[in-house]
Amino acid sequence: MTAVYLGALAELAAGATRGYQAAPDLSVFAVRHNDEVHVYRNLCPHGGTELNWMPDKFLDRDREYIQCSSHGALFEINTGLCIAGPCGGQHLDKLPSHVEDGNIYVHIKNMIEAEKN
Ligand code: FES
Repeated sequence: MTAVYLGALAELAAGATRGYQAAPDLSVFAVRHNDEVHVYRNLCPHGGTELNWMPDKFLDRDREYIQCSSHGALFEINTGLCIAGPCGGQHLDKLPSHVEDGNIYVHIKNMIEAEKN
């Protein structure tokens, strides 16, 4: 596992989301929710596309769920479980992450493997 620096926690306001390029072919996003940071691969289990159509916008209008912009699937922020939409019961790919000294890191298997995906 390799810890990859994503960005400063200060740039991710409470309740906000932000997208990052963790590796050349690995797009991820972070959600800051109830003082926790969750990091997911930016890939919808339904269509295999990125979830957002605007930079750093991953939540529904009420900011209660992660939403796919293609067909409106809704995912729980804490677990990535799809609770409504065409991929109901499936999950977003949650990636291990941690915050250290005010910085957000995601853990990926290794950079070479990530570049192959
Ligand atoms: S591609 Fe995400 S809901 Fe269809």
